Amino acid sequence: MKGLILSGGTGTRLRPITHTSAKQLLPIANKPVLFYAIEAIRDAGIKDIGIIVGETKDEVKAAVGDGSMWGVDVTYIEQDAPLGLAHAVKTARPFLKEDPFVMFLGDNLIKDGITSLVEEFKKEKPNVQILLARVREPERFGVAELSDGKVKKLIEKPEDPPSDLALVGVYMFDSNIFEAVDHIKPSWRKELEITDAIQYMIDKDFTVTPHIINGWWKDTGKLEDILEANRIMLDCLEPRCDGRVDKSSEIIGKVIIEKGAEVKTSTVRGPAIIGENTRVTNSYIGPFTSIYFDAVIDGSEIEHSVILEKSSIIDVHTRIEDSLIGQNVTIIRTKRKPKAYRLMLGDSSRIEII
Ligand code: TTP
Repeated sequence: MKGLILSGGTGTRLRPITHTSAKQLLPIANKPVLFYAIEAIRDAGIKDIGIIVGETKDEVKAAVGDGSMWGVDVTYIEQDAPLGLAHAVKTARPFLKEDPFVMFLGDNLIKDGITSLVEEFKKEKPNVQILLARVREPERFGVAELSDGKVKKLIEKPEDPPSDLALVGVYMFDSNIFEAVDHIKPSWRKELEITDAIQYMIDKDFTVTPHIINGWWKDTGKLEDILEANRIMLDCLEPRCDGRVDKSSEIIGKVIIEKGAEVKTSTVRGPAIIGENTRVTNSYIGPFTSIYFDAVIDGSEIEHSVILEKSSIIDVHTRIEDSLIGQNVTIIRTKRKPKAYRLMLGDSSRIEII
């Protein structure tokens, strides 16, 4: 069996972050979300992994390399344009050949992994196995209608959902899926939809089985989802200190301080993670905060936020909350007169001020 991770796409819902970088590399508890997918596939015993890449291919390749970090073989597959999930499958055909495969959306996180699902697929040998989870607002998702333990119908964002079972971003296919992706037509949004390909399989009487997962999962395509995923994953980590904390600092609860990080005259209340070579001075870092590497936090208060690498937050006296701050961002209290906000914000940025 092979693995196929989709790490192309445009990531419009995460602009401006995705103007310059891949959403699949956004860190959740200081680890790129894509790495969780690689680990889940590796843990399921699959070594041969293809990664679909688009505009951000150089960045993805630089982060993942040849896969040896995880003991897997990674092959990069370039998709000329993000023309849909089924288009990505079509593009990957020379890599997948006739092998069955698990397709994993590179921005999805499944807390308990996929090992048991892959085992079930190998044992039962359906043509397609989809993952479903019960959700509160099914109208926001792709929803499945089941009958006699099989999938009868898939509907994208239904006005009147036939069930509360939403599609999770992990699918298992045998090579019959290529017949489906060759036959379907682009949807209204001009994409080859994987739901249409699976519906084609259902209509042609292929076996499409559901697997309902009970554990936590998330599509990290939007800000709130990233903050939630960060919250959940931080809570699963074991506290440790590989950096330095001075005597006048207070570390409370589950906190990870990574190598080379320094905490001085500050309070860090977990669950939280302070990344490699990051400096926190005269500050308060509150629960559910991840600060990535080479950042500087001085004289500021941050809670329930994700701060990316090389950013500086200095003398911001009002607490920063519920925020995602990109790479190399500087937020600093001005000493200049006249007293005013001076901003340089990228396209699609959003700031809330008080
Ligand atoms: P989506 O989140 O559905 O699409 P997107 O990345 O274009 O984001 P947005 O809706 O915010 O514009 O994609 C799910 C995953 O699949 C994500 O990791 C990107 C990847 N993908 C591809 O690799 N190729 C594609 O053609 C598409 C549509 C998505």
